[in-house]
Amino acid sequence: MNKLNILLLGSGGRESALAWKISQSPLTEKLYIAPGNGGTSNYGENVNMSPLDFDAIKSFVGEKGVKMIVVGNEDPLVNGIYDYFQGSDVLVVGPSKAGAALEGSKDFAKQFMVRHGIPTARYRSFTPATIDEGMKFLEELEAPYVLKADGLAAGKGVLILPTIEEAREALKEMLGGMFGASSSTVVIEEFLSGIECSVFVLTDGKDYRVLPVAKDYKRIGEGDTGLNTGGMGAVSPVPFADEAFMEKVRTRIIEPTVNGLAEEGITYRGFIFLGLINVKGEPMVIEYNVRMGDPETEAVMLRVDSDLVDLMRSAAMGSLGDKELRHDPRTAVTVMMVSGGYPGSYEKGLPISGLENVTDSIVFHAGTKPGPDGGVVTSGGRVLSVSSYGDSIADALARSYDSISRISFDKAYFRRDIGQDLMKLL
Ligand code: AMP
Ligand code: GLY
Repeated sequence: MNKLNILLLGSGGRESALAWKISQSPLTEKLYIAPGNGGTSNYGENVNMSPLDFDAIKSFVGEKGVKMIVVGNEDPLVNGIYDYFQGSDVLVVGPSKAGAALEGSKDFAKQFMVRHGIPTARYRSFTPATIDEGMKFLEELEAPYVLKADGLAAGKGVLILPTIEEAREALKEMLGGMFGASSSTVVIEEFLSGIECSVFVLTDGKDYRVLPVAKDYKRIGEGDTGLNTGGMGAVSPVPFADEAFMEKVRTRIIEPTVNGLAEEGITYRGFIFLGLINVKGEPMVIEYNVRMGDPETEAVMLRVDSDLVDLMRSAAMGSLGDKELRHDPRTAVTVMMVSGGYPGSYEKGLPISGLENVTDSIVFHAGTKPGPDGGVVTSGGRVLSVSSYGDSIADALARSYDSISRISFDKAYFRRDIGQDLMKLL
């Protein structure tokens, strides 16, 4: 196959890990990352362009002879970047706008699951016109109460309320515009209890391959306490996602999803992220995302032992066929170093030192940018994703924590308990 120029859209740790993997492929001629960060320039050329400026992207890919666009985050997909490039010779790895509604609208995702018999929490959707029915529906459920803004709300649209009084108040506020237009419809659903995991699938709309399974750690505090963040770490593989569990995931969730999209005439040639919960051995879908996870990608990419560019190109062309996606048998983990104060307010522009002393980990930049003197400085809440291989979760974590001890920036924070819950299951 011919080599190709690739444009990757995004600027976080996930995009760093994708860029790292893409840059290793013999099929990659040249990699551009827009806008990228202080570390992605190690794998390709950063381009100062917004992932949402489709006209600018079109001019750029024409000028540079880019043949494939890999979309890191959901916004361009939900805004229709796949459809925008239809009819051109540029491949887009991702779903059409209609497919991106699996993430862009929780109500659509729930209806889709019900239509295709995919296991998920019982739910109903409400609008300001049906708020009274929403209040009654809350009475049918037991605490805690799960309320979700229908549309994208930058990861903040899910509220879990311990009492019915708080749930009623939250429903009123959400429908009243708490998350703007994204909460003009609210999904209320039954609370599921179990351990979550993230399953990633690459599909061409007919066939699919499953990537290594990961678990992420969303809360800022140790012991899963405190505010939600963009993710504080991830571990792959996940001990409970064994062959028996994955067989259920394939037959009850992945196949009905891929086939359901095809039956409904929805084009989908990219990654599907299944946020699953293990309810006493039975996988159920908490949510769909239409992209890879962050920080899961910073662990999962270490375990993809096949040419990702070949796989993504085949998926985008609709010819995944029997291409192999091998999993590296080693464990991989990532631990996120974040700015002090995150996810609240924090300082930016702090110099990062010691990166050159890391020997046993792969450090993916997330919120960094080039500094004044050739180094890098912090530029976001999540700063660095420190990923390592190991023979076990404990072994891989020991390497990441050792590497972290060699890196410093003022007020750096990280969780010391990544993977502890999974190790208890072993
Ligand atoms: P987000 O990634 O912001 O969509 O976060 C949603 C999170 O809320 C999930 O990762 C779960 O931890 C939690 N969640 C969502 N729906 C449910 C549910 N039905 N039962 C229990 N937890 C849920
Ligand atoms: N780690 C969860 C997400 O990317 O949405």
